[in-house]
Amino acid sequence: MTRTHPDSGDRPAPHDHPDQHARHGQGEILDRDAEVLAEINADIVRWLPRQAAPRQILDLGCGTGAGTLALLDRFPEAHVTAVDASVEHLQRLREKASARGVAARVSTVQADLDDLSWPHLGTPELAWASAALHHLVDPDRALRRVHDVLAPGGLLAVVELAGFPRFLPEDAPEDRPGLEERCHAATERDLAEHLPHRGADWGPKLVAAGFAVEGERTITVNIEASGRAGVGAYALAALQRLRHRVADLLPPEDLTALDRLLDADGPHSIARRHDLAVRTERRVWAARRGANT
Ligand SMILES: C[S@@+](CC[C@H](N)C(=O)[O-])C[C@H]1O[C@@H](n2cnc3c(N)ncnc32)[C@H](O)[C@@H]1O
Repeated sequence: MTRTHPDSGDRPAPHDHPDQHARHGQGEILDRDAEVLAEINADIVRWLPRQAAPRQILDLGCGTGAGTLALLDRFPEAHVTAVDASVEHLQRLREKASARGVAARVSTVQADLDDLSWPHLGTPELAWASAALHHLVDPDRALRRVHDVLAPGGLLAVVELAGFPRFLPEDAPEDRPGLEERCHAATERDLAEHLPHRGADWGPKLVAAGFAVEGERTITVNIEASGRAGVGAYALAALQRLRHRVADLLPPEDLTALDRLLDADGPHSIARRHDLAVRTERRVWAARRGANT
């Protein structure tokens, strides 16, 4: 485990993490998601119940910083400790923080949250875990750890996705309608095996870890490409990554249709479509550590 600070100049050495392969190509998707869903993240942060503005915040499984940057925007006095297993994601997060002029308010910590012991992470009043807990082998143990790390009375926000976003209309593409759904269906068995906590109800897990759940909400997202820059690029990056996963699982006709969509110069390129949208769902839980626990 290595702690780095944006000003320190030292960088953690790459290490082999079991999830490393799964993260290949993930950075770009996280950046695209952060760009297109920036307002949604800001809205979730605004919605959180709180007592006083937090000074120390923890972003667990921070990725390339979607949550970290939204939290820094919302709480201008706060410092965020951003934790992730991926050296590359943390590097990207530091670059983004520098570009926004907030690097001095972020520390990055490379750590595996499945490890039995965590590095010292301060005593945050607010912890944030977005699309991260379902990646852990033992998220219940991690939740108990977050409970102990938080300041008494501190808040944990858990944000999770019902599944991967969809981009194409259900009847697309014209020659192979329903292709996107079939791609996701093909990966389902593998995902269920490798990410068994995906789609869990985190409410009871939070209570079992000692938290009191103060708020819960579901946000349905439907952002049409016509209104937003970045949707096409997000769709392309996400379907390119999906292509790697389904290469050996799809019938050849579907794979050919997918390749036509991913051919940036071709007439059927996804980049030429005007009917794209980001359709997804975010579930949020706000959970408090008791003042005397
Ligand atoms: C889907 S991404 C979410 C990133 C970010 N929170 C966001 O909302 O954009 C999941 C993140 O969890 C990290 N992760 C997965 N397993 C982890 C582990 N055992 N310890 C620390 N980080 C982990 C991944 O590297 C990745 O950055």
